[in-house]
Amino acid sequence: MVSSTTLSRAFPLSSRLDERGRLEVGGCDTIELAREFGTPAYVVAEEDLTSRARAFLDAGRDSAREELQVVFASKAFPCTAVLECFAREGLWCDVASGGELHLALNAGFAPERIVMHGNAKSETELRMALGRGVGQLVLDNFDEIERIERLIGEGALGARGRQSVLVRVTPDVRGETHEKISTGQADSKFGFAMADAPEAIARARSVEGLELEGLHAHIGSQLLSLEPFRRAAAELASLGDFAVLDLGGGLGVSYTQEQPAPPSIEEYVGAILDAVAEAGIAAQTRLMIEPGRSLCANAAVTLYTVESVKQNVSRWVAVDGGMSDNMRPMLYGSVYEAHVADRFGGRTPCVLAGKHCESGDVIVRAAQLDDPRAGDVIVTPATGAYGYAMANNYNGVPRPPVIFCRDGEARVVVRRESLEELTARDVSSVEAGR
Ligand code: LLP
Repeated sequence: MVSSTTLSRAFPLSSRLDERGRLEVGGCDTIELAREFGTPAYVVAEEDLTSRARAFLDAGRDSAREELQVVFASKAFPCTAVLECFAREGLWCDVASGGELHLALNAGFAPERIVMHGNAKSETELRMALGRGVGQLVLDNFDEIERIERLIGEGALGARGRQSVLVRVTPDVRGETHEKISTGQADSKFGFAMADAPEAIARARSVEGLELEGLHAHIGSQLLSLEPFRRAAAELASLGDFAVLDLGGGLGVSYTQEQPAPPSIEEYVGAILDAVAEAGIAAQTRLMIEPGRSLCANAAVTLYTVESVKQNVSRWVAVDGGMSDNMRPMLYGSVYEAHVADRFGGRTPCVLAGKHCESGDVIVRAAQLDDPRAGDVIVTPATGAYGYAMANNYNGVPRPPVIFCRDGEARVVVRRESLEELTARDVSSVEAGR
């Protein structure tokens, strides 16, 4: 019999293998979930989300600082039920577009608990942010400051007299991560160069209606070493004293048992607090962090069904999803684990392939599965962050549902996309007057 200790740390906190060796997530049998809701499906252990949110808040509360504002980077899992969960837990929300702002407001985040980002915010998005009065509007470039000044002149603030802003800087700190998710280097499309930061700060201060509260930096994502945060804090401190300092997100997570374990939430928050103290940043400075991945990646697994198995040079196990529900292997060469949901511990080398018309649509290149057969349910853990977020309709594949599981109860929080929805936005030639 397989014991629960064989589960890798990539799985949601409450996961276990039952006495028959079947995976349970949030107390729900994944084979039954697959049968009831179909596959592919994102299955989220709700308690995993709440306990990680609480871990961040608790770690922040232990410090001598007034408070640590924990801002969920909604791009990681922009799903209303996830946002509602974090809003209830008392987190703030980071949005990077008008769409994400809409989602955050709709999920119940008070506007003053929303941080708005973007290196190319449109006038419409700026009007939305200024009109709703987001807690912090993060300034990214000089064109944007000019545009905001004009919009305020045109009355975009409404009855509100002021808008708090942060200046985003690129501190020229490189975290060790995939080049596509590294943002802190000097040659980045995000934020102001260190050399331009003093002018950006002065410009922001000169605009009537803007209140410059502080600085922001996000050095990258999936960082497994905490050292770069130390250097980033020191760079920000070199720009002067501010009321608010936002150090962005970036804490890495476990995708597989083999990969080195990431720092814990407590270690990460502790390191941020130490870094800030070391940099001489005043204890009254309000600190913000923007975790995305580390709040939700490990909360979810994806369930697939095997459609076919073939053997040539490799054993190809093709499932009913792939790059339409998880772009990460293709985009970043990300490595995932895979298991047959009711037969863990397999040793047959396989390539877990997706169903899409691209050779690169491979979910796990070096999977080890227990003699997989058509009809088996396959599970890949750690798909809660940037999976649903980057899902797409390639090959006309409808996007999967999101199922929340808690104490053995499952509920659909996003239903599977329908075929009708694939054509729902078409404008018929009659309507178009052709
Ligand atoms: N704050 C800002 C300003 C960000 O740009 C990001 C992520 C975060 C916070 C959250 O970072 P996290 O804690 O999740 O590392 N699609 C990629 C990740 C892109 C991250 C973009 N920015 C992936 O799947 O790995």
